[in-house]
Amino acid sequence: MSIKKIIAIASAKGGVGKSTLTALSALSLCNDYKVGILDADIYGPNQQILFNVENIKPEIISKNSKKFFKPISSKGIEISSMGSIIESDKATIWRGPMLSGAIKQLITSTYWSDLDVLFIDMPPGTGDAYLTVCSEIDLDGVILVSTSNILSKTDTIKTISTFNKLDVPIFGYIENMTLPLSVGEELTFNNDIHKITTISFNESIYNMSLNNISDEMQILKESLEKIINA
Ligand SMILES: Nc1ncnc2c1ncn2[C@@H]1O[C@H](COP(=O)(O)OP(=O)(O)OP(=O)(O)O)[C@@H](O)[C@H]1O
Ligand SMILES: [Mg+2]
Repeated sequence: MSIKKIIAIASAKGGVGKSTLTALSALSLCNDYKVGILDADIYGPNQQILFNVENIKPEIISKNSKKFFKPISSKGIEISSMGSIIESDKATIWRGPMLSGAIKQLITSTYWSDLDVLFIDMPPGTGDAYLTVCSEIDLDGVILVSTSNILSKTDTIKTISTFNKLDVPIFGYIENMTLPLSVGEELTFNNDIHKITTISFNESIYNMSLNNISDEMQILKESLEKIINA
């Protein structure tokens, strides 16, 4: 198992498009790169839904007398998510240590192929999941997702502070769900945090359909290639 780049897609703010952009990022690269997704959202895993593999259970394989989950594969993208293990209509009501244990298990028990890039779909917040992912995985860096809304911006500033404290490099941010007639100001942070790209609010993206978003996918691909090939 060798993984060339590990990139977390994160924001303390909920609902800004972390899971959607993780899936689109993987899809934009999957024809030219070997891509994996680790869904680190234990309470609200979404990747199995976005890839329509909800009913597929991961195979258990043995390697050197240790048991591993084989990631689910969709369009050649390897996906490991608690959503494939726990039934989707059952809530996981766990305290922090159990949450951390579940993330740890997903990290240590997934048997990835050799990957060019592994995206980690982070949950909202700045707590246990962030500490666990950052201590268990040697992240190359993080891509932040935010809308231009002041609540999202404020929470993203907290996310920047979290990753600074945890010594994880920040590649930049994607401004997501921009509106056609710009409402409010363009999203900016301090000079150290640069904009990777902008993705508009788009009906196809909302419906997770790849129709009519080839321009967005190309822009996303080119922006990500700069990061993964750096
Ligand atoms: N560019 C976009 N255009 C249209 N809809 C979008 C876009 N990005 C995300 N969405 C929609 O916004 C909602 C929230 O997206 P998503 O679940 O990916 O956010 P999230 O940050 O992962 O949320 P959570 O914090 O709960 O994990 C979804 O309904 C998704 O379809
Ligand atoms: Mg999500």
